[in-house]
Amino acid sequence: METSPIIQSKNLVKHYDTGSVVVKALKGVDLKVTRGEMVAVMGPSGCGKTTLLNCLSGLDDITAGNVFVEGTDISTLKDDVKTEYRAQHMGFVFQFYNLLPVLTAVENVEMVLLLSGVKPKMARIKAIEALDTVGLTGYETHRPSQLSGGQRQRVTLARALVNDPKIVWADEPTGDLDRMNSNEIMNLMVELNERLKMTILLVTHDPGVAARCRRIIHMEDGKIVKDVPITAEDALKHPKEGDYDCRGERDTGAARISMQQESSL
Ligand SMILES: Nc1ncnc2c1ncn2[C@@H]1O[C@H](COP(=O)(O)OP(=O)(O)OP(=O)(O)O)[C@@H](O)[C@H]1O
Ligand SMILES: [Mg+2]
Repeated sequence: METSPIIQSKNLVKHYDTGSVVVKALKGVDLKVTRGEMVAVMGPSGCGKTTLLNCLSGLDDITAGNVFVEGTDISTLKDDVKTEYRAQHMGFVFQFYNLLPVLTAVENVEMVLLLSGVKPKMARIKAIEALDTVGLTGYETHRPSQLSGGQRQRVTLARALVNDPKIVWADEPTGDLDRMNSNEIMNLMVELNERLKMTILLVTHDPGVAARCRRIIHMEDGKIVKDVPITAEDALKHPKEGDYDCRGERDTGAARISMQQESSL
């Protein structure tokens, strides 16, 4: 069984120098993610969750420490090699990775493939398949403005999975969605993880979303303060629970109870 980490950080430090102040966004993060894991990252606003995803995926340069992806220290790679690796092996469900409003759903999805050199005919076939996977058959020619928020997020997901990535990075993928759409997106993410064996790192404020993952990492002030497999009873509880606002539904304990029931089956 493959146990070597697909993603690993060692004493990862990230500072943002804004000119007047230096923001210490990550203060030494050690993390190992094994191939095929589905990990939720939680923590209060500003604690460094997005920064962590940006640094681990190589979107952003790091200040100190190391990030290894599939065993390679990404700081040793040239920018074009990193970009190529991302295009081929990573999918992003980031809110700032907006869909292009002038393109249709299928054009938004196939763009990823065209940019990495796939022939137009094949790109179109794969984009249609990816839209089918997320339940959007019939909406191929709709522009983002002609789709609901949930449907738009499914196009984003189709775009993330169209190149069959090894790793999917998702930053609050259900952030703007109601409960029903949020559940649908999470059903798809779980399917990508379980059926297609994609490794997923997902940032969320929503304990219900985190409960669908296999492991929860809690961050606080640029550091990991807790890292627990989801089978643990208190996985959803942040060490300083109550100190920050869970923007999603409140943690009623229902998710934990249903998990306990599942694990006792
Ligand atoms: N480009 C940047 N320049 C300067 N400071 C930044 C930059 N990006 C993030 N920061 C700062 O780094 C810290 C971590 O930000 P980050 O966006 O990672 O937080 P977060 O945990 O994702 O928060 P949220 O839940 O609100 O999205 C914050 O103090 C933020 O203000
Ligand atoms: Mg963020």
